[in-house]
This record gives sequence, C-alpha cells and structure tokens, in this order.
Amino acid sequence: MNTFADYARYYDLLYRDKNYNAEAQFIHNLLQIYAPSTQSILELGCGTGVHAALLAGHGYEVYGVDLSAQMLEQANQRLLSLPPEEASKLQFQEGDIRTIRVDKKFDAVISLFHVFSYQITNQDLQAAFATARAHLKPGGVFIFDCWYGPAVISDPPTVRIKRLKDEKIAVTRIAEPVMHPNDNLVEVNYQVFIKDLLNGAVAELQETHQMRYLFQPEVKDFLIKNELTFITLGEWMTDSPPGFNTWNVYFIGKSK
Ligand SMILES: C[S@@+](CC[C@H](N)C(=O)[O-])C[C@H]1O[C@@H](n2cnc3c(N)ncnc32)[C@H](O)[C@@H]1O
Repeated sequence: MNTFADYARYYDLLYRDKNYNAEAQFIHNLLQIYAPSTQSILELGCGTGVHAALLAGHGYEVYGVDLSAQMLEQANQRLLSLPPEEASKLQFQEGDIRTIRVDKKFDAVISLFHVFSYQITNQDLQAAFATARAHLKPGGVFIFDCWYGPAVISDPPTVRIKRLKDEKIAVTRIAEPVMHPNDNLVEVNYQVFIKDLLNGAVAELQETHQMRYLFQPEVKDFLIKNELTFITLGEWMTDSPPGFNTWNVYFIGKSK
C-alpha cells in the first residue's frame, strides 16, 4: 500500500475542508452514549492524526496506528503544535492494522474515514476485525465507518476533478472509478498534478485506491466471528438509518 507515501504530501490540503472537529465531536457523542467511561482509544489507520489530536482535546488518550510512515511523520509533527497536556495523551506507531498487536487493551477502538474499506478481501477484513477485538477491554466499543454497499450500487461513483491550492503547492486531482461488482470493489484511479508554486515545477502522480463497499449482513458476520456484539449502524455524521442514498455509514460493535 505504497499509495499513501505520496498521498501524505498533499493529504491535509486535499481534506482541509473536511470537518474533523465535527467528526471528533460525533465520535465523542457516540462514546458518551455507548461506552461513557471510555478514556483510552486505539485508532486503526490514524493517518496524519487529526481525529486523534482533536479527541485528545476531548480528554481521551489515543494510540494511533498507521501503515504509512509519511502519514505518521505528519501526525508526529502535529504534536509539536498542541498544548503539552494534549500532546502527552497521544502516541503513534507504524503498523498494519491486519497484524499489529499492541501490548495494551483499550476502552474503545475506532477506525475512521474509510480505513476499513481499504481492507479489500475477506481475509484482510477478518484480520482487521480480529485486531480490533484483540485490543478491546470487556464492554469496550469498536466504531468504524466505511463505504455502504446499497448506496454505492444504486448511486455509482463518477469521474471527479478536485483542485486545491495553498501557499506552497497547487494540486489537481482527477478520479476515475472502475466498478468491480463481483468483488464488491471500486478501483479509483487518481491522476494527480502537484505544482510547486515557488518554481513552477509540476510533478505527476498516479495512484490507485481499491475500496471495498460493505453490507450490514456481512459486517454482522465479521462482528459475531470476532466475539463482538452488533450494537447499531447509522449514517455517518447523522442519526438517520442508512438507505440507498447513504454512501458513508458507521458501525458499532461491543466486546462481551
Ligand atoms: C483515507 S486515509 C484516513 C486517515 C485518517 N483516519 C483520517 O481520517 O484522516 C486511510 C488511512 O488508512 C491507512 N491504512 C490503510 N490500510 C491500512 C492497514 N492495513 N494498516 C494500517 N493503516 C492502513 C492509510 O495508510 C491511510 O493513512
């Protein structure tokens, strides 16, 4: 998954309009409802650490794991800009969420912004669910979001162009999706142009992100197989029940 090495260079710019504050608040609210005594969180696929940092602001200790050293470099860089009492609540480690074992159990495990959709085979998914289960204390909750099958099929992705700019770089990203209906996969081929605004040099990157869309019955199976009780699913960032228009859903499981 080398994709994320280059991706890290412009990841925060690409998602600067994503409302991480509201998302951290949403996770905090879910934790308040389903596991109100939560203090420690394991975050699987923490990326550049934005949710983790905001959750530290809500008082949680967050241990973030990610495959990409480059993403984690940005996460560690972020620590320097935080108040010391928040920075001291955060720790990041490079690792694969399918195999990593941290010598600690947590009150909650979270995995946000489609990290589980990046686990594309049943084996990958089973391994990632097992990791979540292995790190949960009894009564702990596992919250993750993903692409939702019914919506991806009824409202398939189309070609999109995104243009962004900061004081250093201008990025143009073209996304061309290819559906693989027999594997419940969308392959998104990105062509990215990064212009250095100081010297005008343009770098071109090609990236492919393979995304697995998931359905409720199979997620329930993965939860049961890993001794987690299915608690609920909902539209990401709302309380609405998901349907054919809901591309992004969250699931919550609980350890016994
Ligand atoms: C779309 S980014 C989301 C990052 C972060 N959660 C956020 O909300 O900004 C997906 C992240 O998942 C990580 N990832 C995907 N598969 C992984 C795996 N098997 N093990 C660890 N990290 C993984 C990537 O490195 C990347 O940082």
